[in-house]
Amino acid sequence: MAEPQPTLQSLAAKITELSETLTAYLRENKVPEPTFAADSPTSYSNLSPEIFMTRQVLLDALNDMWYLTQGPSESIFNYVHNCMPDAACLNILNFFDFWSAVPVSGSATYAEIATHTSLPHEVVFRVLQHAVSLRIFVEIEPGKSTSRIEHTSRSAALAKSAGLRALVSSILDDAGAPLMVMNEALRRYSQGKPELTQKMDESSFALFHAGGQFGKHGNSWDMLENDGDGEKQGWRQKNFVEFMRYVKEIFHLEGVVLDAHDWKSVGKATVVDVGGSAGHDAVVLAQHFPDLTITVEDLPKVKSSFEANLPADLKSRVTFREHDFFKPQTVQADIYIFKMILHDWPDAEAAKILQALIPALKPGARVILFEYIGNQGEASEAPQLPRSIKQMGSATDLRLMALFNGKERPVKAWKEVFRLADERFEVANVNANPQNFFAVIEAVWRG
Ligand SMILES: C[S@@+](CC[C@H](N)C(=O)[O-])C[C@H]1O[C@@H](n2cnc3c(N)ncnc32)[C@H](O)[C@@H]1O
Repeated sequence: MAEPQPTLQSLAAKITELSETLTAYLRENKVPEPTFAADSPTSYSNLSPEIFMTRQVLLDALNDMWYLTQGPSESIFNYVHNCMPDAACLNILNFFDFWSAVPVSGSATYAEIATHTSLPHEVVFRVLQHAVSLRIFVEIEPGKSTSRIEHTSRSAALAKSAGLRALVSSILDDAGAPLMVMNEALRRYSQGKPELTQKMDESSFALFHAGGQFGKHGNSWDMLENDGDGEKQGWRQKNFVEFMRYVKEIFHLEGVVLDAHDWKSVGKATVVDVGGSAGHDAVVLAQHFPDLTITVEDLPKVKSSFEANLPADLKSRVTFREHDFFKPQTVQADIYIFKMILHDWPDAEAAKILQALIPALKPGARVILFEYIGNQGEASEAPQLPRSIKQMGSATDLRLMALFNGKERPVKAWKEVFRLADERFEVANVNANPQNFFAVIEAVWRG
């Protein structure tokens, strides 16, 4: 039987029930509850997997309540009216670092913020008027000559966390504009075809940057590496490194890497983390498994972040090597790991990246992919996830489409990418974890 349609009243009852469950958990487990005050905790700490799910179901109910309260037409009108100014406003605040213009436990005038950001007073005023409507900053004594700006918990969260600032920069500033021309890219290159174009120069990113006004960048990695003048060159890559570190922290991905393989049983092994960013995964692996020697390979502008973050006691076992993963691999290792790498590329490029390993592969060498698979895993009995969780996956997927014509793939498709690269890659193990939505796919080289 079809589920009855939610109504304002049924949703209100559900929201009451779920928020009571959540607050009872917080009380019992002494988890401090966030407020809008600047000194509020910036996130819920230590939510159990069950209560995390409860919170996501609550978010779905709140979203439904939000839509139904407005009614169908107005819910679209309001969304369309606000979504771009909301995003642009947050991007401006982040780009010009409004966060540090206002002390977290103090206040600042519009004039002080204008001086700090080097923006015209009028611009600062107008941007902040919108930000305040989003509970990002608050205005004390609005409209008076004495009016001042203070942080709310939402703006303070950004002031306090370099990771969150990097996330906003990478997602909004690097990818936002290309996402807005997706319709035109699809019209030009994929409409009327059975499949999305697989050409990197037909992505929304390539279309947006074709004019060269924002720099001539073939793909988004080019932009991260090369954007900025002089000392500033590569600032977006540094941000991206911080974004990746933050993603690992908030999604608790440490365990995914540690549990991916029986690292102990491999003994004195050499590992290459291909596209390993500034080594955040390599460091964790090396700390837990003293017999491993790890080479982190990535693009040149990542190196300084690697050097800044490497604990001194790991210097002899964890090293950085500038390497373009489309070029032939020269480090002969026992295991190569690719975490969240191949999803950035269409099948042909993903296969080329794997083929580039072949010159270095000895028989029995292993290649381990870590990729997000959402709940589309093998099991058809996978539980229905809250929409708020599915959205994380579908939003990333659309971003990958815009930037690279890349995609999140189910396990079956990852096996196919190995096959496309070379028949001598034998997929030996697949571990799709419904708890963290990640799959670990391990292939053995039978060359
Ligand atoms: C999505 S990030 C994943 C980083 C890391 N593996 C992780 O899981 O946090 C993709 C990485 O691939 C790197 N990358 C992109 N193109 C590359 C290339 N041609 N050669 C080497 N690394 C590249 C980027 O610099 C970035 O660090």
